[in-house]
Amino acid sequence: MLSRRLLLAASRSSQVRRAVLAAPGGRAVVARFVAGETRADAVAAADRLIAHGLHVSLDHLGEDPVDDAHAAAIAAEYVGLLGALDEAGLAGRAEVSVKLSALGARLGADGPALARDHARAICEAADAAGTSVTVDMEDHAATEATLATAAELRAEFPTLGVVLQAYLRRTESDCRELLGAGSRVRLVKGAYAEPEWLAFRGRDEVDRAYVRCLRLLMEGQGYPMVATHDPRLIEIAGVLAVRAGRPQDSYEFQMLYGIREDEQRRLAEAGETVRVYVPYGADWYAYFMRRLAERPANVAFFARALAGG
Ligand code: FDA
Repeated sequence: MLSRRLLLAASRSSQVRRAVLAAPGGRAVVARFVAGETRADAVAAADRLIAHGLHVSLDHLGEDPVDDAHAAAIAAEYVGLLGALDEAGLAGRAEVSVKLSALGARLGADGPALARDHARAICEAADAAGTSVTVDMEDHAATEATLATAAELRAEFPTLGVVLQAYLRRTESDCRELLGAGSRVRLVKGAYAEPEWLAFRGRDEVDRAYVRCLRLLMEGQGYPMVATHDPRLIEIAGVLAVRAGRPQDSYEFQMLYGIREDEQRRLAEAGETVRVYVPYGADWYAYFMRRLAERPANVAFFARALAGG
């Protein structure tokens, strides 16, 4: 828990970022979790994964625009990316994931409306390419506004997906709101350090909350996206899908780029739809540190690689 807090704190330190890049194995360890810095890197990674029978969701890393021009540039990057995926013939298996903060949601009182308009432009580009958009979920300060924006956009773009975090105490009730036909919900455990009055904190409590939410989603009419690397939860998802009489193409599994690749392939070979979340972009650092914070073994891997081992 202490190392998790330290790593989450280090995720905001530019000195630590410089140290990671300067260390002998620094770039290689980042490359395990991040596809690269450019759009071409992202398309190449999507191409490789799709060739292995997987689906992808691409995330451009860049969480905090300083003004609307910056947020507009991030939205334009997504529009360009969707065009490039379409041109490469990959859009049938590649969607994009967006954070509303990256589209300007935190830029003052007008921020949420700015972010919604930029997200709408991305949804239009996704529609034109024949694919869809999923809205990522950030810390609790953004939950309500993110759900409201997603609901507004879903009225225009019914395939728009949204992330729900099982660790939040409110999420079971949010799941109930999102059980309708066509509703795409990506269920995750949750990656931010949240206060206890809002979020379950113990591992077992979070896992139990995840199963409760998953059961609701599997029994509902929507399209559940089971985003976890947890072997127990993956097994339970399979059981719940069978019990709910769901065919394999009525839900999917999702995992992060570079994590449990064998399991990604095993599930795909067993006929499941598996989507890999592929982050790319120059602003990779905070994402990378959140991945390290999730798992003590990742920290050891990181330390060995930094030492050049
Ligand atoms: P957890 O981290 O508890 O791991 C459970 C088990 O999985 C481990 O005990 C181990 O067995 C196995 N495992 C995990 N990592 C492994 C590794 N590197 N190698 C081998 N085994 C490993 N969060 C958020 O707050 N907002 C969001 O929008 C998103 N979006 C998102 C999209 C997708 C596609 C995914 C997969 C995840 C997210 N997340 C997220 C992150 C999510 O909230 C969570 O922090 C991580 O997925 C880690 O949680 P797990 O469910 O994998 O379990």
